[in-house]
Parts: sequence; structure tokens; C-alpha cells
Amino acid sequence: MSAESTESTESAESAENADLLALARDVAREAGGLLASFEGRVTVADTKSSPTDVVTEMDRKAEDLIRARILAERPLDAILGEEGGEEAGQAGDGGAPVRWVVDPLDGTVNYLYGLRDWAVSIAAEVSGTIVAGAVFVPRRDEMFTASLGGGAWLAADGGARVALHCGPGVPLDRALVATGFGYRAARRVVQGEVVAALLPRVRDIRRAGSASVDLCSVAAGRVDAYYERGLNYWDYAAGALIAAEAGAVVGGLHGAPPGTSMTVAAGPDLFPALALALAGLSAERDA
Ligand code: IPD
Ligand code: CA
Ligand code: CA
Repeated sequence: MSAESTESTESAESAENADLLALARDVAREAGGLLASFEGRVTVADTKSSPTDVVTEMDRKAEDLIRARILAERPLDAILGEEGGEEAGQAGDGGAPVRWVVDPLDGTVNYLYGLRDWAVSIAAEVSGTIVAGAVFVPRRDEMFTASLGGGAWLAADGGARVALHCGPGVPLDRALVATGFGYRAARRVVQGEVVAALLPRVRDIRRAGSASVDLCSVAAGRVDAYYERGLNYWDYAAGALIAAEAGAVVGGLHGAPPGTSMTVAAGPDLFPALALALAGLSAERDA
């Protein structure tokens, strides 16, 4: 392929990614507005993996809105959403099919209790790679976005967007490390042991209550690192791209990609030390 055709393919790709990002951003903002308008008047509709793993009527309403808006614009696309599962796409006439990965309300427990850190997370995946992601945090009026190779951005209070850069490398013993815990008690036993062993070795620990917000906090340098075992794809799909585009390393342990077994995000200098510490604590074990 000539240099010229490589360039034009790349710019076509980034134009496509920009379109996907614009849709993710607009739909996340609309769903966030819907959620915010009902905050404080919400009842628990169901429980999932444990009695504390709640789904509210609003998780479902927000996901319904997101699916409807995306399919209205792009009827052939596939959607994987936390509440509604997988909806297959249809083969179109050109290009790889797009799959949207959606957590309509990440941080449901915060939402129920009126805490600020809950978000709408929407990512677009093409051929198995996340190419665009938006995480909207309505109570902070913060829109985090990234497209593959296009950097990570934060638009706050309706103002101009600013580029995000994760914090400079700090040694592990000075790192502010965010983490989260799954809903099942058996998993929490191990997560508690791991965080107890890590605590004396770092600056401090934060548990904000929303995986997507945690990953955006790494991107914004508000924490130095984040790790969690047991995430689902919709928890981290958009946030992982935003953290990576802000310069963080996002991965699992022992060179694995980020995933349910373990997701770690940190600046390039800190990542190896944190991943090694977690591996040394056998953080991927089950009770
Ligand atoms: C949860 C939040 C939480 C994390 C859990 C997730 P949900 O998502 O992101 O911070 O610790 O692992 O399941 O249930 O609020 O969408
Ligand atoms: Ca979630
Ligand atoms: Ca959710």
C-alpha cells in the first residue's frame, strides 16, 4: 500500500471513530440527564449476583433509551448492554460491524444513596477493539471521552474540553490507589485480604464506587492507579480506552490484557510495580 493510501485509510478510520464517539457522547449525556432527573425517587427493581447487587428501574430505562437512540442512528449495529444482554447486529454493505458496549448506570449503589460518582458508560468496538468511549458523570457535569489514537479529553461544566494526561510515575509507596469490590461475599473475602496487604505498601486506598469513574480518575491524574478483580466488559470498555489514551498502561497481571480476572490501570512507571505486588498477593485467586 502506498503512503498516500495508508494515510487516507487512516483518516477515514479516524473520521469513522469521531462519528462513533460523537454518538456515544450525545447518547451518554441524554441517558445521564434522564437518570439525574429521577435521582432520589428510585426504587430497587431486582437483585442480581447477590442481595446487594441491585438494579433499579432506572438502570433499565436508561439502557432502553441508549439502545433506541443508537439503533435509530445505526440500525445494523450490535449492542452488548448490562441489563439487556447481547443484541446481534446485521451485516452491512461496507466496513467492519460495530458493537456498542454499554453500562447504562455504573455506580448504581452511589446513585441509590445520592453519592456523586455514578456514570453512563458507552464504548464502540470494531473488530474486537474499542475505538471510541464516553463516560458521563452527570452529578459532576463531566464528560470523559477518547477515540483510538485521538487522545483522552474532559469537558466539564459545559466548557471547552481539555486533554487528559495520567499522573507522572510515582513509586508504589507514594501511590494513591483506587479499587473496587465485587458483589459476592466469597469474592470479597479475597479482595479484602489483598487490599489489607496492599494498604501498608501504598500512600492510601480509595473506593469511589464506579469502575468507569475510577478509570477516568486515573486518566485525569486524580488517583495514581486503579485495580479491580471481577469487572465485566461494560464496566471498563470505555474507561480503559480513556485511561490508555491519557497515557496509562491498562492491563491484567502477568502480561494479560485487562479483563474480568484483573484490570489494572496506572502510569507506565507505576504499572509494573503494582502488577507485581498484586501478583505476589495472588490477587486473582478465589476463596
Ligand atoms: C459496579 C461498580 C463498582 C465496582 C463493581 C461494579 P454497577 O458496577 O463499577 O465500582 O466495584 O465491580 O460491578 O453494578 O454499579 O454497574
Ligand atoms: Ca458497572
Ligand atoms: Ca450498571
